Amino acid sequence: MSRVAADSPAPSPPAPDRPVPSSPGRRRVDSASSERASRSWWDVDAADYHRTHGAFLGVDSPTGEFVWCPEGLHEGDVHLLGDVHDRDVLEIGCGSAPCSRWLAHRGARAVGLDISAGMLAHGAAAIDRARASEPDSPVPALLQASAEALPFADASFDVVCSAFGAVPFVADSARVMREAARVLRPGGRWVFSVNHPMRWIFPDDPGPDGLTATIPYFDRTPYAEFDPDGTATYVEHHRTVGDRVREIVAAGLTLVDIVEPDWPEWLDREWGQWSPLRGRVFPGTAIFCCAKPDSAAE
Ligand SMILES: C[S@@+](CC[C@H](N)C(=O)[O-])C[C@H]1O[C@@H](n2cnc3c(N)ncnc32)[C@H](O)[C@@H]1O
Repeated sequence: MSRVAADSPAPSPPAPDRPVPSSPGRRRVDSASSERASRSWWDVDAADYHRTHGAFLGVDSPTGEFVWCPEGLHEGDVHLLGDVHDRDVLEIGCGSAPCSRWLAHRGARAVGLDISAGMLAHGAAAIDRARASEPDSPVPALLQASAEALPFADASFDVVCSAFGAVPFVADSARVMREAARVLRPGGRWVFSVNHPMRWIFPDDPGPDGLTATIPYFDRTPYAEFDPDGTATYVEHHRTVGDRVREIVAAGLTLVDIVEPDWPEWLDREWGQWSPLRGRVFPGTAIFCCAKPDSAAE
């Protein structure tokens, strides 16, 4: 969630322990290179991400929290996943897994999957803290793997979800849709939040400069940052609204809703390019709610 303006004159500031600066650019980046970039980016960025956003995401809450997006929409208020009690639930791109922990506390058999060992380590530490104060605290299983190749048998889950995990960062999001459909049981739900596709056309600036469109909506060339050797160190892939709908439908899923959260009155917090100023003008997040048809209805 940290794309800067594609034509920004200066590279984004390096994290304290990032050894070399990265230069932004627009270039095709394949699946393997995108995965490699995400793994190393999120490993290095994990501590800073949690310092900045951990409290908002409820990482330290003993029960976890399920926040869908920088607009603060909470699953406990919107129930996009339905009743998760006694259900098998997979979270893709779980990071430190506050959402998976929240689901486990609601009676789900939750599994959190992420490509970054650094992000998962923050999750394991949060689980240890919760278990230290409440030994029987229900917790999710955590697993390191890629969203493009889910290591599960067909029809293993009742619900698959993702809060800004993986989908904006993979080169082949159509494959992620097929993987989610494959591991879902008939009648199951797949719900994922991503940057709202219309945000692509604006510089990643929370202030007034972020209100003027400068980037073509139809240009799917990813935003990437590269080290001096030309290796991608951070990649975000763009899909239009139509692309997302086509990928969902092609995976055999039904699109039930696209939730575009309002910027709430109570929230004056910025998160990268998300800000009250921009959030009151146009949406920052899209949550795609999909269902796998029941076998009987096929
Ligand atoms: C913006 S963070 C969101 C984490 C968590 N859902 C949250 O709300 O804090 C994006 C996460 O997606 C993960 N990710 C990126 N590419 C991935 C991939 N190909 N497969 C699995 N996880 C991936 C990153 O490692 C990172 O933890």
